[in-house]
Amino acid sequence: MSTVASVKRISIPQIRSRKGAEPIVCLTAYTTQMARRLDPHVDLLLVGDSLGMVLYGLDSTLPVTLDMMIAHGAAVMRGTERACVIVDLPFGSYQESPEQAFRSAARIMAETGANGVKLEGGVEMADTVRFLVQRCIPVCAHVGLMPQAVNIAGGFKATGRSDEEAQKIMLDAQAVAEAGAFAVVLEGTLEPVAAAITAALPIPTIGIGASAVCDGQILVSEDVFGLFSDFTPRFVKRYADLGSQISEAAHTYAQDVRARRFPSREHCFLPKAAGSAKI
Ligand code: KIV
Repeated sequence: MSTVASVKRISIPQIRSRKGAEPIVCLTAYTTQMARRLDPHVDLLLVGDSLGMVLYGLDSTLPVTLDMMIAHGAAVMRGTERACVIVDLPFGSYQESPEQAFRSAARIMAETGANGVKLEGGVEMADTVRFLVQRCIPVCAHVGLMPQAVNIAGGFKATGRSDEEAQKIMLDAQAVAEAGAFAVVLEGTLEPVAAAITAALPIPTIGIGASAVCDGQILVSEDVFGLFSDFTPRFVKRYADLGSQISEAAHTYAQDVRARRFPSREHCFLPKAAGSAKI
């Protein structure tokens, strides 16, 4: 009999059941090591296509491929045992048809072992959401500011400023909820609009730049830990400054190497007689 208590992963129905209850804590993760650190503290980890910008230095999420998402999704699954993990469907892997979306999502589910997928879009994606959910693929939708639509929107701007825009986001959120999405990410959305949507939907809203009224919150981890850029967007709270710590550590390492302070004797393999080399 095992003495180690087995940890059970938080399921999609458990996330869904948090509507109007304890806020859902979410962060992004792209790598095994980061996922391992975050796993004990969060309810949900998103392997977001933001990895294109954050990890790969791309200008947008558009060049991110399905193979990249699968490789990082599998890496995050290897680093977690508790958090519910969902993986973004990247641009071009689902917009063509529900069938294309199913093929892409099925690869993600089978090759990563993740709990579900996320896709961007509202009314126009409702049929696709329904198609996936009816075929056993849990879907988190994403409305409001949609980074994959950057060229249509003309930039990354907060949404819901006009009545027309606010109404559109509401209709988008309602359409994906009716289609069976288990949750919806509301990005860059004005507080009153996020509040109205959160009140209207039977599923949890997960906000990023959409205020505390949402049923949960998500941020890009590298923004939270100061690992991405020096610029902190208004909706981000930086909880650590690891980027500066890395720069300082690299500077000290470089100085030590140049001054031959590193490696010192404790970091060297020495003959047995001369010391106690451990491998
Ligand atoms: O790709 C991503 O990281 C996301 C979050 C910002 C919600 O979609």
